[in-house]
Amino acid sequence: MTLPNIDTLTQNALDHYLFPLARKDEMRSDGATIFVSAEGLEITDAAGKTYLDMMSTQTRASSLGYGQDRIAKAIYDQLVGLHYGGTFANVVDVTVNLAAKIAELAPGTLTASVFAGSGSEANEMSFKAAKQYHLLNGVKPRAHKIIARWNAYHGATMGALAATDYLGTRHITEPGVPGYSHIPAPNLYRTPFGMDASEVSEFCADYLEQQILHEGPEYVAAFVAEPVMQADGVQIPPEDYFARVRAICDTYDVLFIADEVITGFGRTGKWFAMEHWGIDGDIMSMGKAITAGYFPLGVSTVSTKVHDALSQYVHVQTYNGHPGGCAAALETIAMLEEGDLLTSAAENGAYFLERMQRLRELPIVGDVRGLGMWTCVDFTTDKKTKAPFKDDTVKAIANRMAELGVLGGEEGTAIEFAPAYTATREQFDHCVDITEQAILEIAKGIT
Ligand SMILES: Cc1ncc(COP(=O)(O)O)c(C=O)c1O
Repeated sequence: MTLPNIDTLTQNALDHYLFPLARKDEMRSDGATIFVSAEGLEITDAAGKTYLDMMSTQTRASSLGYGQDRIAKAIYDQLVGLHYGGTFANVVDVTVNLAAKIAELAPGTLTASVFAGSGSEANEMSFKAAKQYHLLNGVKPRAHKIIARWNAYHGATMGALAATDYLGTRHITEPGVPGYSHIPAPNLYRTPFGMDASEVSEFCADYLEQQILHEGPEYVAAFVAEPVMQADGVQIPPEDYFARVRAICDTYDVLFIADEVITGFGRTGKWFAMEHWGIDGDIMSMGKAITAGYFPLGVSTVSTKVHDALSQYVHVQTYNGHPGGCAAALETIAMLEEGDLLTSAAENGAYFLERMQRLRELPIVGDVRGLGMWTCVDFTTDKKTKAPFKDDTVKAIANRMAELGVLGGEEGTAIEFAPAYTATREQFDHCVDITEQAILEIAKGIT
């Protein structure tokens, strides 16, 4: 392969591409990483350096790795056959087939889907469905408020952003959409207000109830939560937390929206993470791995209760249910089923987590946790107080790992790994070795 002229590419990137979230001064001093090709779990940049990608491309979307020609071909065939069929009452067969397939896979009575192009839009559609449900069924017609959680990430569009509390993306656009509020999330490593981990579930659930009462139950449309929160790395809730949440939502006729944009389609070793606790949302938002990253697609799936109330769902976009994305999703799901890849995600993920546990012994490692193909190492300056690093230590570890040829994800206080479900045990072992080496090297300079 002929490599592109890296200087021209880099200059064009810095001059003409508005990098999302990345700081301009850092891009100018550190340079941009420009990828040009990939195969399996390996991705190559414009300078010709190849990395082992243990993040499914940074955002955890590429759940089946690179170069899956089956998915590419499915998209191609669909686009050549019928690339678009309009919106409103028009729909293409592949979109209906995907909606039916999701109804088959989704837990409980989640059976009717609306599609758009991203996880953010999936949440917008979920919030709209919740508000319209209350208006149309008439029991709480003024219910419009959404309760989310501290440190939640639900997306970048204005409604999803209003529910978001992570990455510092919300404040700069405020005042945003009114009617959103946030409550503590049940993090078990750095617990809310430093309480004992055994108290976290009850405290956070009670807080939800208090917030509903505070906002006025007749005005609260929905509570939205990521089953496993991404902020500061793979926050797995206490075992009984979602059962408590479900009961409180039912008491006050508040819909529960499960934001499965990261966790859906196998990331945690099950189709949907809420299956770990046997609790169903009234509405579920999805994106990312639904197409293994081969086509932008977001989905909001509603339960029969919500579907029945929506005599008309007032929402329209030009590209609702784009056939290319739906073909990609159906092929991705077929590959997950045929290869029994959820079982391997669960089994290989457990292997990876077990191998990673030895890092707990290292000086600056506070916690190692994970669920399915989603694992993280959380860092601390003090194993007793669990104080996070306030400087660039975590970033320095991630950067050193990249220099050593392994890509993990810097995730606040932690470094995260979300490899493709096709990762091999050799790749897990290599990743653990490199992570250990990078931690030891960086820790040496500070301990
Ligand atoms: C839980 C969750 N919801 C929503 C989103 C937004 O998805 P997108 O970036 O595709 O708009 C994300 C993105 O990371 C996410 O993690």
